[in-house]
Amino acid sequence: MGQVEAIYRRRSVRRYLNEELQVGVLEEIKETCKSVKRLYEDIDMDIYVVEDGIKIQGIRGGIFGGYGKVRAPHYIVITSIKKEGYLENVGFAAESIVLSLTEMGIGTCFIGGSINKQLLGNIVAINKNHEAVITISFGYPRDEEGLEGKFIRPRKRMEIPKFTSGYVTKTWQHILDSVRMAPSAMNNQPWRFFINKNVIDIYSLNKKSIFLKHLQEMNCIAVGIALYHMYIAANILDRKIIINKLLGKERRGHTYITSVIEAIKD
Ligand SMILES: Cc1cc2nc3c(=O)[nH]c(=O)nc-3n(C[C@H](O)[C@H](O)[C@H](O)COP(=O)(O)O)c2cc1C
Repeated sequence: MGQVEAIYRRRSVRRYLNEELQVGVLEEIKETCKSVKRLYEDIDMDIYVVEDGIKIQGIRGGIFGGYGKVRAPHYIVITSIKKEGYLENVGFAAESIVLSLTEMGIGTCFIGGSINKQLLGNIVAINKNHEAVITISFGYPRDEEGLEGKFIRPRKRMEIPKFTSGYVTKTWQHILDSVRMAPSAMNNQPWRFFINKNVIDIYSLNKKSIFLKHLQEMNCIAVGIALYHMYIAANILDRKIIINKLLGKERRGHTYITSVIEAIKD
């Protein structure tokens, strides 16, 4: 299975077999984590594989209450320095791991509830300038259907015209279809694409919520995830794209993330 297929197969798995992955498989996952693709190479990030999931289950709090509580045999915790673009940078890298795990038949779920940094520090040696950004639970899915079942069922996602403005070419219809499949906190699909010829400006839609700051942060992570889908799909379709933050792109009601510039073929 390639990563594009994994984009369509992945779904959030919240019920796991009470069974640890084999040591060899965990080692392979650790290797995958070491070589993740990043959006911004200059933003320092650390990725920890927590083999003993019980340790993480003990410290999960989080404002989403039960929503944040997913019991899994293992977790991945990603920490980062706080620097402009760090959230989307983490989302982008995290999704590359999630899709690799999906290819291995392993179920995953992003968990966005806040995590107590002090308690986390007892489990992994966090860099003192870092904060815990996102957790990913993983293990073999408990449901009999595993990762297969929902593959054939339609996803609850917005259609492309709902999150884009401007003319969408046939190739970009394909690319944006992969973007649609991205996971987001409470499936709120915050990504917005403003297309002007070969430049696409990408934003996170500002939502109203009592957990505003937290949701806004989760949404920047989700846009990073969506960008990874875009990057993979564009690669497969042999489109040369450059991802670059441009100046003067502020837009009311939106948070500017970055722009994608496609090299025009002659
Ligand atoms: C940044 C982020 C945070 C999330 N936080 C949680 C969470 O705390 N608990 C949970 O059960 N699911 C969480 N999810 C999973 C979403 O609910 C899920 O991706 C979405 O409903 C779409 O479903 P799907 O992943 O099966 O396609 C999160 C997803 C993202 C991207």
